[in-house]
Amino acid sequence: MSITIENMTKSFGSTAVLRGIDLTVESGELVALLGPSGSGKTTLLKIVAGLEWPNSGGLNVNGQDWLGLAAQDRRIGFVFQHYALFPHMTVRDNIAFGLTVRPRAERPGKSVIAAKVEELLHFLQIAHLGDRYPAQLSGGQRQRVALGRALAIQPTVLLLDEPFGALDAAVRRDLRAWLRRVHEETGSTTIFVTHDQEEAFELADRVVVMGEGRIEQIGNADQIHDHPASPFVARFMGATIELPVVLSAGRAEAPGLDAGRLPRRALPDGPATLFLRPADITPVADPSGRWQVSRCTSNGAILRLELTDGAQTIPVDLPRRALEAKGLERGARVILRPETAAIFPGPRPSQAASAATELPRKEKAQ
Ligand SMILES: Nc1ncnc2c1ncn2[C@@H]1O[C@H](COP(=O)(O)OP(=O)(O)O)[C@@H](O)[C@H]1O
Ligand SMILES: [Mg+2]
Repeated sequence: MSITIENMTKSFGSTAVLRGIDLTVESGELVALLGPSGSGKTTLLKIVAGLEWPNSGGLNVNGQDWLGLAAQDRRIGFVFQHYALFPHMTVRDNIAFGLTVRPRAERPGKSVIAAKVEELLHFLQIAHLGDRYPAQLSGGQRQRVALGRALAIQPTVLLLDEPFGALDAAVRRDLRAWLRRVHEETGSTTIFVTHDQEEAFELADRVVVMGEGRIEQIGNADQIHDHPASPFVARFMGATIELPVVLSAGRAEAPGLDAGRLPRRALPDGPATLFLRPADITPVADPSGRWQVSRCTSNGAILRLELTDGAQTIPVDLPRRALEAKGLERGARVILRPETAAIFPGPRPSQAASAATELPRKEKAQ
């Protein structure tokens, strides 16, 4: 089942939540929607499920217009972060639920349902939990049951909205690997929503980065990490150091900066901004360097320096045993040598307007 979303918009009152989403999910693909809280991920999922309607745009599944189709006719499997299993029903009955409530004409026979549930219990590795009630399960087990319930109806499309969001890190990692196997064996077309980069990249065939109701970039981990398509994606991927530079013949120049290791870019001359991660910069000791080490801390493996040029203070991480780490005690003067960087033309965008923060976008103050 392939899903095609075309130029979709959605507002709540005067708040634009989706601002023109174009996305195709191929049949059998697992796509992750990755973005900060408030970027519109859940709204998009609800529209696909038929729990919300867009203001404009198209939604086609295998060529069929789904906006004309009621939620119950879409055969969606949906798992939420806090999926309320029926507390008074056993795991078996919870998984069977979607089948037992079908109209009589479409409802499989009792023994067929029982066999299907048994098969799912084994497939999802929860065979030993069939007779338990939700209150007798851990959070991770509950989400396995919730997925079982979603899969029982053989959904056309599987929608997972931060299904592991409430669980601790180790359980999440287990469930991720488990879900990937489940997906490969069922081959269902799946959209997985998360705000966790690691989860998105580990699970998904393609990751869709969303910010403020727009798709900022679509790609795999390496593409998005190495070639962020916008300042928003660069920040979201951890490149939180922003250095103002001037581009000249495709090379970034600034006092105290040695950008010789960065490839030239086909960008116009003029002001630009370098986006860097703390580990992307090598500080080079230089008595006349513009930057000064104002703080130096170690966690044993990594040395974290704070460098300041009077106007700006930036963090730099380097392996403590690296040669470069010698002679960088507090007070030392250095120049910055970026090893890799994203660069975007134009002056440094104001942090207040950054969608990478959890704050709502502020209009320009000046
Ligand atoms: N039913 C609603 N009524 C009004 N505003 C809503 C409603 N649902 C979501 N929003 C707003 O839409 C924006 C996007 O929300 P959501 O889709 O839940 O984002 P995400 O899942 O990425 O956190 C938020 O600002 C949220 O407050
Ligand atoms: Mg959400």
